[in-house]
Amino acid sequence: MGIVNLENITDVVIASLGKSGDITDRQREIMASLITHLHGFCKDVNLQHGEFFEGCEYLKRAGQTCDENRQEFILLGDILGVEVLVDMLSNPVTGTESESTVLGPFYRENPPVLPKAASIILKHYDNEETAYFEGYIRDEDGKGVAGVTMDVWEDAPNGIYENLDPDQPDYNLRGRFETDENGHYAFVAVRPVPYPIPDNETAGELLRFMGHHPNRPGHMHFIISKDGYRPLISQIYDQDSAWLDNDSVFAVKDSLIGTFRPAAPELKTDLHFEFDFTLKTEAASIAAE
Ligand code: BEZ
Ligand code: FE
Repeated sequence: MGIVNLENITDVVIASLGKSGDITDRQREIMASLITHLHGFCKDVNLQHGEFFEGCEYLKRAGQTCDENRQEFILLGDILGVEVLVDMLSNPVTGTESESTVLGPFYRENPPVLPKAASIILKHYDNEETAYFEGYIRDEDGKGVAGVTMDVWEDAPNGIYENLDPDQPDYNLRGRFETDENGHYAFVAVRPVPYPIPDNETAGELLRFMGHHPNRPGHMHFIISKDGYRPLISQIYDQDSAWLDNDSVFAVKDSLIGTFRPAAPELKTDLHFEFDFTLKTEAASIAAE
């Protein structure tokens, strides 16, 4: 510890890390880098007192916005491209496995467990287009994986997730499915529509400040998991959706875009969406690290 000046301040603060209390090597690495970049940022822009306090007030308001249903800091991270960046660092593609993308804030645990080809639609809308979703979940050798759990969730045709909309039944448009002995999954849902991420409060302030819009292209969310395989958190996108090349949270990947086609009469839906996924084994994930 020492007397600080403009030259040594960063080294002095880093040297103070872990002098008392518990800190792991990884926490020390993260904190030292955070301090280095924060100090570098302040010097880079020659940050002034008033600007620092304005930033602190903004973060205070962001914290006050958080509650059971709203995690404002994830939203701010999304708007700044941080959630998708962390996802790409956490799940680098090393083989033929499907790409992951952001989880987002609207997942609910323990969705209804449903049989193959069941519908997750609990409320109908005049503008809805129903769709039969199906495909195979395979391993990297191309073999279908049986007994894979697949949680799916999407917004309603009014652009709102059920947990944010008092007019939708509980768990509308959410379900948990399992692949059959060939690794095949199927369910009935609606064609997802584009929607704005919450753009009131501090998330909206940030979007407007950046001159960015809040909209996301139509997408279906998935969490695909089975013991022995790396869990896949991902989304599939409608190639005809607005905002596909200008997503407010930067989460679209080319490999996750698919096509809604008119459905054959026996499917009894308006549309048909086929999409296959490939899972990486835990062993392959560990070997690639
Ligand atoms: C979503 O896809 O549900 C989502 C992702 C990031 C921010 C807000 C929503
Ligand atoms: Fe979403």
